[in-house]
Amino acid sequence: MGEQKIMETTEAQIAVHWQEEGYFNPSSKFIGQANLTDPEIFERFSLDNFPDCFTEYAEMLTWYKYWDEVLDTSDAPCWKWFKGGEINASYNCIDRHLKENKNKTAIHFVPELEEERIEHITYQELYVRVNEFAALLRDFAGLKRGDRVTIHMPMSTELPITMLACARLGVIHSVVFGGFSASACADRIVDSNSRVLITMDAYYRSGKLLNHKINADEAVAIAAKAGQVVDKVLVWQRYPGKYSSETPMVDGRDCFVNDVVKNYYGTRIEPEKMLSEEPLFLMYTSGTTGKPKGAQHSTGGYLSYVTAMSKYIQDIHPTDVYWCMADIGWITGHSFIVYGPLALCASTVIYEGVPTYPDAGRSWRIAQELDVNIFHTAPTAIRALRKIGPDEPAKYKYHFKHMTTVGEPIEPEVWKWYQSEVGKGEAVIVDTWWQTETGGFLCSTVPAINPMKPGSAGPGVPGIHPIILDDNGDEITQPGIAGNICIRNPWPGIMQTVWGDRQRFVDTYYARYCKNPESKDWRDWPYVAGDAATRSGDGYYRILGRIDDVINVSGHRLGTKEIESAALMVKEVAEAAVVPVAHEIKGKEPDLYIALKPGVEPTDEIAKKISDAVCDQIGKIAKPRKVWLVPDMPKTRSGKIMRRVLGAISNKGDVGNVMTLANPEVVETIKKMVDR
Ligand code: WT7
Repeated sequence: MGEQKIMETTEAQIAVHWQEEGYFNPSSKFIGQANLTDPEIFERFSLDNFPDCFTEYAEMLTWYKYWDEVLDTSDAPCWKWFKGGEINASYNCIDRHLKENKNKTAIHFVPELEEERIEHITYQELYVRVNEFAALLRDFAGLKRGDRVTIHMPMSTELPITMLACARLGVIHSVVFGGFSASACADRIVDSNSRVLITMDAYYRSGKLLNHKINADEAVAIAAKAGQVVDKVLVWQRYPGKYSSETPMVDGRDCFVNDVVKNYYGTRIEPEKMLSEEPLFLMYTSGTTGKPKGAQHSTGGYLSYVTAMSKYIQDIHPTDVYWCMADIGWITGHSFIVYGPLALCASTVIYEGVPTYPDAGRSWRIAQELDVNIFHTAPTAIRALRKIGPDEPAKYKYHFKHMTTVGEPIEPEVWKWYQSEVGKGEAVIVDTWWQTETGGFLCSTVPAINPMKPGSAGPGVPGIHPIILDDNGDEITQPGIAGNICIRNPWPGIMQTVWGDRQRFVDTYYARYCKNPESKDWRDWPYVAGDAATRSGDGYYRILGRIDDVINVSGHRLGTKEIESAALMVKEVAEAAVVPVAHEIKGKEPDLYIALKPGVEPTDEIAKKISDAVCDQIGKIAKPRKVWLVPDMPKTRSGKIMRRVLGAISNKGDVGNVMTLANPEVVETIKKMVDR
């Protein structure tokens, strides 16, 4: 069976104890300028109008040829959107803006070192650089429509230039997060059969210039062992004209882009007229099993969807300065740093480094200097900024009209700090729930229409019709009862398939609730997101986390997030992570890991206070086995708390390879504490 079966599945009915919060309303100032204020949008996008309603999104783009069919379901569940239409993503993100806006900033690049000036790249300059690099890709690297290319680059202007040059030629890009190891990069090179790797020599992180080129050499060697030959490595330079890595260039294989591109100065490349359903890119994501899957995203459907989401949910206008603090190496960066904002002719900010370098005020200085008015980040970053610099935002004169949170459930306490301190009480907030697989948002409030509710993502966005199913496939209609959240209908941003593995795609996302695998009717194919969720009476969805993040204590199911949220109500607490520990009688017990705010002494009193708070908020049933006051949480380089590692420590299991963590040393410290 599919991967969903391997997970610990949810039971039919799950009690959720996380209390409902009150509403926050958008200001009339925000509503007065918003792109989407007409509540009839939900009617226009009702299932009665499916799939034709989605042409409203496609019409935000410029097509060479309109589609013959809005949705072709003949290969269900591999949907083809806007079939027969012809379009180019690079044209839509650049060329079409030149007539009116060539002199406008497309990209603000912020180097990590504060003494280096911010670079401002106009749409005209982006056009010139994308064309020249596309010429290099075609004529020097021999790439053509349909080929795959692996890109292992840090946050830089050259990364979107590279992606858009690929898109111009119809070359399918596969961007690997820059912080991923050489071996992760190699796996993706092999799976996508890339013979060209594009990299950069070095980049700054936490004040250090890191040697990045070395990863390319290792990745190429590992891929070769697995039978995939990379014959060209294209190396961008962090400082053009100067090599910032000690790793030697390999003769005949490696070249400096900055040198070779000179041969293509002045060259212009006609954008390829891509079929809407041809792939734009692959984005690898991990599943329950070890091998990452390449989520294959289409050109016309994906671009229509992210453009509409950027306009309606992110409320991006061409006059906005938009900063999404994610990495372009993740789907959030693809959709909401590169494709969405550029398709709308906004100015998008790319920051090279960490938000807290050299101090907790850095993010707000950047916002102030560039006069950013839309800000987008993840709860993990919000918690970190709240932990180390709770009073910093007030020191800077920036004003956000709109803020986003994405990636994990946000505790109401943290949401409220984001609203009052970072947003200065002025900004609307959207809590956007979605996935690598979905291309764009699934649930969120429409910021000028639906009020905000801390801790809830909101209703399905226009055109998305969620449903909560129990393990038998029956709909759960009672408010507050958790089950598996699914989407009833296809939408243009959904991935097309797992690259090279259609069966895995079907098994992972559709097999669980599809009653007839032969069916060509989309109604038979609910999309299984793999998250547990509840719906409240007002139709807002609360995401509880991955299906396997739910802890069953004596038959009561508790979302780990509920317990963490309760712990965060204690004012000394900076971060909280809950993991299940096996227990003879109860089945599972929650173990609670806590990082305290700076300057707070870890004492038994505080541990007790936290434990009591959990019992008070949720009930005795949620009482942690133990509250561990740790110096720091083990984290991935993208900042996610590694609950898997904490779980292994709590259960005296093998923590596995932790060398890829941002702070591997903390694992030993915690282990000693728990093993004692
Ligand atoms: C998983 C997808 C695409 C966004 C970046 C992460 C969790 C995502 C939320 C949210 C609660 C969320 C889900 C989802 N998630 N957004 N607003 N509230 N949980 O993409 O790495 O593909 O992860 O992140 O569990 O399934 P991803």
